[in-house]
Amino acid sequence: MCGIVGILGRAPVAPQLVDSLKRLEYRGYDSAGVATLDGGRIVRRRAEGKLRNLEASLDASPLDGAVGIGHTRWATHGAPTEANAHPHATDRVAVVHNGIIENFRELRAELEAEGATFQSQTDTEVVAHLASRELAAGASPRAAVQATLKRLRGAFALAFLFAGEDDLIIGARRGSPLAIGHGQGENYLGSDAIALAPFTDSVTYLEDGDWVALTRNAVEIFDESGATVVRAGVRASAAAIVVDKGNYRHFMAKEIAEQPEVVGHTLARFIDMSAGRIRLPEGADVDFAKLDRLAISACGTAFYAGLVARYWFEKFARLPVDIDIASEFRYREPPLSPGGLALLISQSGETADTLATLRHCRAQGMRIGAVVNVPTSTIAREADLVFPTVAGVEVGVASTKAFTCQLAVLAALAIKAGRDRGVLSVEDETKLVSALVELPRLMAEALRLEPEIEKLATTFAKAQDVLYLGRGTSFPIALEGALKLKEISYIHAEGYAAGELKHGPIALVDESVPVVVLAPFDPLFEKTASNMQEVAARGGKIVLFTDAEGAAHAGDAFAVLTLPTAYAFVSPMLYALPIQLLAYHTATFMGTDVDQPRNLAKSVTVE
Ligand code: F6R
Repeated sequence: MCGIVGILGRAPVAPQLVDSLKRLEYRGYDSAGVATLDGGRIVRRRAEGKLRNLEASLDASPLDGAVGIGHTRWATHGAPTEANAHPHATDRVAVVHNGIIENFRELRAELEAEGATFQSQTDTEVVAHLASRELAAGASPRAAVQATLKRLRGAFALAFLFAGEDDLIIGARRGSPLAIGHGQGENYLGSDAIALAPFTDSVTYLEDGDWVALTRNAVEIFDESGATVVRAGVRASAAAIVVDKGNYRHFMAKEIAEQPEVVGHTLARFIDMSAGRIRLPEGADVDFAKLDRLAISACGTAFYAGLVARYWFEKFARLPVDIDIASEFRYREPPLSPGGLALLISQSGETADTLATLRHCRAQGMRIGAVVNVPTSTIAREADLVFPTVAGVEVGVASTKAFTCQLAVLAALAIKAGRDRGVLSVEDETKLVSALVELPRLMAEALRLEPEIEKLATTFAKAQDVLYLGRGTSFPIALEGALKLKEISYIHAEGYAAGELKHGPIALVDESVPVVVLAPFDPLFEKTASNMQEVAARGGKIVLFTDAEGAAHAGDAFAVLTLPTAYAFVSPMLYALPIQLLAYHTATFMGTDVDQPRNLAKSVTVE
């Protein structure tokens, strides 16, 4: 995952930039680079591979300059070559970037039509050219950045360095994290407090949509509208530097907020962004055309990711899926085809039941694929094919970001299966892939519902029972919503397929029971809306999560929360966010131990 650093110092900063980049190595990268100002001119050194290659280049040809930006790149658009390494620059401005610029193709075509020459295949380079065009037209650096940000679609963090501006770095955050480090007559920017640790423990985290102009003696933060804002500073303690909570109260809150970024990084492992097609990671290619069936197994939240995937594999690839929770799978003694594929899903890669299922399937002669977050785990090591989620360390016991990353991987695999089996055309693939590419931005938008959700938490905290309803792929998300609420708030909650309600659970409904309905305005909406009416008629308090069109057809609801309109296929990843926030705020309101709820362990290594 890309790392960003920026330094306004008093001596040559290139060695400090490299020192800081070393601390970002843990995020994973495949090339690196720095840019400084030498006599007001932008100068750069970049290198493929590890930081020692960049250091060798700097030893051979040192960079002067007391202001600079640096970057570790984890390739998304274009191979990890020197030409694609950041910073990207024109003679006026240099840029480093973390995240995805969704509309880079249109922007590049526009800029090339005006005569701009591109040196790389990256999405980032359009940012340098856009800012450069503004500067050439006479805009100040701040105005140039503001105009550039308005043109960008996607989830990202950026840092800009300007020719002739020895006392200025501008940073911007939309979806991906960025922190300011405060020094004495020096100031810094970094992807996290770990990058800033060599220089300062006084840190301010930018909020989504913020941008910042840094000089050596001043820090000015602006929100998306350009209004000056004040963001609280924190002391990043040495302990926090290891696994950093940032300015969040709980790891779970931080992990919920990180999802646009980590889902983007995960997707980048499975998508050739330049071509807009699925590309599986090296060593994990699979030909789904050769399969008759697919077996999926997992526990808890990971199992619910598998349930969503069943809809996708069956719809997009016409591939029948056998799925069961891992603690039951082998006791069912399902007939398994030797040479068939078993897909295990696990955040920790150590869950005992999932591991036992893996070994059971292996003993039956199956190939093993693992969607797994911890690359060194037993499940990752024992699998034939590893499909990595790039969620980073998940500390909160209640799984959040690992879940949406699992869904992102499974979505990519289902599209690949659809192509392999001739069900999806190239055009279908491109359409579904572009829906996935847009997802991090939509997730960032969905997270803005947090203040509304926080208000609802007071109602939920008083409830004894809560029901969650959904149809189609929203059904497993309803199950996940109920699990999240149960595990961290200890309130009894159940998820049901919306159509199943009248076959029993509706007996529970009265004025004291909140009923959470997950219903994007898709072809199933009308049927779910009828089930909502059945609940409303019995006095149930409906809390509807939907999109703008659904909100217009909401009928009698206690509360309607409007998510961004999205392609139906990606809605499970989007609707997972508000139900996580609802559980989180209900639990914090009740004062439970959110990150370590009673009786639960992060990694369940006993059967
Ligand atoms: C729920 C949760 C658990 C895990 C389950 C599987 O929030 O975290 O249900 O999903 O224990 O764990 P992994 O994915 O590590 O195999």
